[in-house]
Amino acid sequence: MHLTPILLASLLPLASAAGKGKSYTTEPEPPVPAKKGLDYYAKQAGMMYFGSATDSPGQRERAGLEAAYSKYDEIMWKSGEFGSTTPTNGMKWLFTEAEQGVFNYTEGEIVSKNAKKAGQILRCHALVWHSQLGLWVRNVTWTPETMRIAIVDHIEKVAGHWKDECYAWDVVNEAFEEDGTYRKSIFYETLGPEYIELAFKTAARVAPKAKLYYNDYNLEWPNKKTEATQKLVKDLRAKGIKIDGVGLQAHMMAEDHPTLDQHIAAIQGFADLKVDVALTELDVRLTLPVTEANLAQQKVVYANVVGACAQVKSCIGVTLWDFYDPFSWVPYVFSGEGAAGLWFEDFTTHPAYDGIIDALKNNTKTPEKPEAKGKGKKARRSRPLVV
Ligand code: XIL
Repeated sequence: MHLTPILLASLLPLASAAGKGKSYTTEPEPPVPAKKGLDYYAKQAGMMYFGSATDSPGQRERAGLEAAYSKYDEIMWKSGEFGSTTPTNGMKWLFTEAEQGVFNYTEGEIVSKNAKKAGQILRCHALVWHSQLGLWVRNVTWTPETMRIAIVDHIEKVAGHWKDECYAWDVVNEAFEEDGTYRKSIFYETLGPEYIELAFKTAARVAPKAKLYYNDYNLEWPNKKTEATQKLVKDLRAKGIKIDGVGLQAHMMAEDHPTLDQHIAAIQGFADLKVDVALTELDVRLTLPVTEANLAQQKVVYANVVGACAQVKSCIGVTLWDFYDPFSWVPYVFSGEGAAGLWFEDFTTHPAYDGIIDALKNNTKTPEKPEAKGKGKKARRSRPLVV
């Protein structure tokens, strides 16, 4: 399998500093009753939600598409397709603490307020991540003590600000390398693995209602990174530190992908540790140009990974990393690849949309979860905090 590691360090220039934005004028209306779309079928399959990340308009990947905004907003907030959202960028360190000790919630608020109006669950992302940091974080000469203070301050302010809105927080993002060793981030270089414990402990204290997640890519099939993540969950739990979930980012490729069984094995591996699992940033990129053949491959990949989630009880939800191709990060990071979402630029849907619906319909009750039969999986899940 050749799933290219994502070179997130190279993303920094892509996200321009906070403040590039225009003001947001379109106020979403209250939701109309959910049509039989993605969220409906995900709930029928026993999941808590099917959602999409979205960005405040000034941060969206492709500028100059204002003409598409009303249709985009209609699908995002009013169509009933989505029961959950994540702000793509606005809650990251770069936007919330671009300058040390100076906090700005403007971009994140745009999405959190829209989620509240639309009655959608809000997944919040991401408190401690090596990428999209305030530039100052790289320029300070850290000691362990000053780094501890900075992490605690950041989490207290940011997770504290949205403590009543966030159903879940991605507390630590992408802490491991592909071989299962710790990524040599500024946090790790200064504090070692202690930074992860500190982040989870602090988040648990300031946002006690939120489900606390570790989130990473390439966790969608069993490998060294999934093993390292399982060990992290066990180690945190052994120390009495709260961790509630593991987020599988699920940035997949149409042409090279794990099998359904591999997905199920990876998800089950986490489920066995009694943590929730979610697909947190799902997209399936393909090598351009778009053809019937690569769209068909993409459909299989989407259906497999969502179908696997539907088959394991602890896999509680799916979030697309934007549903609309023009607002996907993929073409800006993976040269020659794109069309990773479910809606084309003209708002027609990819064949994968129907593939997902079929996968959800066909996986409502499965042999992998015989205990779910009769009782209904939904009934045993705690109610999401809808903001
Ligand atoms: C991406 C956003 O989609 C881009 O707009 C931004 O420029 C860079 O970050 N893993 C993550 C996400 O956890 O936060 C990243 O989002 C994609 C990879």
